[in-house]
Amino acid sequence: MSLLTYQDARPWARAIKEKVAKREMPPWYIDKNIGITDFKDDPSLSDADIATITKWVDDGAPQGNPADMPPPRQFSDVDQWHIGKPDVVVSMKKPYILPAAGPDNIVDVLVDPGFTEDMYVMAVESKPADPRSFKVVHHFTTNLIEDQEDDPIGLFFNEYALGKNGDIFPPNSGRLIKAGSKINFNLHLNPRGEETPVTVQLGFKVFPKGVVPKYVAFTQHMGDSNELDIPAGQVVRHDGYFRLPQPALVASFQPHMHNRGKAMCMEAIYPDVRADSARPGPARTETLSCVSNYQFGWHITYPYADNVAPLLPAGTIVHITAWHDNTANNKYNPNPRNWVGYGQRSIDEMSFAWVTITYLDEADYQQRVQARQSQ
Ligand code: HEM
Repeated sequence: MSLLTYQDARPWARAIKEKVAKREMPPWYIDKNIGITDFKDDPSLSDADIATITKWVDDGAPQGNPADMPPPRQFSDVDQWHIGKPDVVVSMKKPYILPAAGPDNIVDVLVDPGFTEDMYVMAVESKPADPRSFKVVHHFTTNLIEDQEDDPIGLFFNEYALGKNGDIFPPNSGRLIKAGSKINFNLHLNPRGEETPVTVQLGFKVFPKGVVPKYVAFTQHMGDSNELDIPAGQVVRHDGYFRLPQPALVASFQPHMHNRGKAMCMEAIYPDVRADSARPGPARTETLSCVSNYQFGWHITYPYADNVAPLLPAGTIVHITAWHDNTANNKYNPNPRNWVGYGQRSIDEMSFAWVTITYLDEADYQQRVQARQSQ
C-alpha cells in the first residue's frame, strides 16, 4: 500500500491508528523506556506524533483544507539505501537460479570486483537487488577474501536479513578492504513456488582517498546461545556472554532470533575496579538496550548516537538475554506443539546479537571517559 497522498492513506486510517499506537509502525522495536534512548536515524514517532495521528483517526480522518497540504515527498535512488548513496556497489555477476520447490538452498557465490586500491569503509549495507530476489532471500552474509589460497573463508564483513537497514561506523572508524580482495556472498534462500533468478548486492561508502581512519570497526556475533532448549507451549529464557579483551566503543545492537523470538536485552557486567578488590556483593551491571517486542520480519540494527554509545572497560562481559515464545499466543509461531532447538531454518531458533564495536587502547579509553564525564 502507498501512504503518499490523502486518497491513498484514508482507507487505511483505522489500521494506521492501531499500528502507530502499538508502536509497530514505523518499524523500530527498541524499548524506549530501558537503557540508552538516543540513536542515529531513529524513525520512531514521539508520543505527541502518535496522539496527533490517533486524534485525526478518531475525528473521522478528515482531509482538512487541501491548500494547507505539503507537496508529497519525492523519493530518489538515494532513498533506496539506508546508508545514503554508496560509493561502491558490488553485485553478483549473474543471477543464481533458485528452483520453484525443494529444501532451502545455501549457496556460495564468489565475486571479483577488481578492486585496484585499498579502501576504508565508513558505512555498509547488503540487500537483494530486485523485488523478486527480496521474496526468496532468507538472509545472506558477505566475507572479504584477501587471499583465496591462504584463507578461502576470509573475514566476515556484513549481513542482510529480512527488514535490515545498514551499518554506519562511528566517526574516524573504518574497515579496510585491501586491493585485490574478492567478495564471497553466502546466500540462504527459500524456494517459494516459482523459479526465481536471485541477485544480491553490497553497497558501501568509503573514506576519501588517502584518509586512513584511526580505528577499526567491525560487526560480530556476541552472546551466542547454541544449546537452545525451547519446549512446546512455553516462553523460555536463554543467556549468552562475550568478554571484551580490550576497552571498546559499541556502535550498534541488532538482536537475532527467528519466528519465536520475543525479546532480547544487552547488559554490561563490569569488571571490578581493582584486580585486588574484595568488594562483596554482585558485580555492577547496567542494561544497555532491550528490544522488548522483537519482530522476525525486521532485523534492524540500532546505531547508538555518538555521545551515548556504550564505552566499556576491558574485561566487561557483554551479557545477552533472549526470550522465545513457543506458545500459541505468538502469531508467528509455525507450530506451538513442537519442541524447538538451535538451527539455520526460520522454523528452528537462534539467539545472539550482532554488535558493531571498535577496540580502543587504554589511554584513548580514559580520555573518552573523561570527555563523557565533563559532558
Ligand atoms: C508512520 C509511518 C508508518 C505508518 C503509519 C505505517 C502503517 C502501516 C500499516 C497500517 C500496516 C499494516 C498493513 C496491513 O494491515 O496489511 C503496515 C505494515 C507494513 N509496513 Fe508500515 N507504516 C509506516 C512506516 C513504515 C516504514 C518506514 C516501512 C519500511 C521501512 C514500512 C513497511 C511496512 C511493511 C513491510 C509492512 C508489512 C509487514 C509488517 O507489518 O511488518 N512501514 N504499515
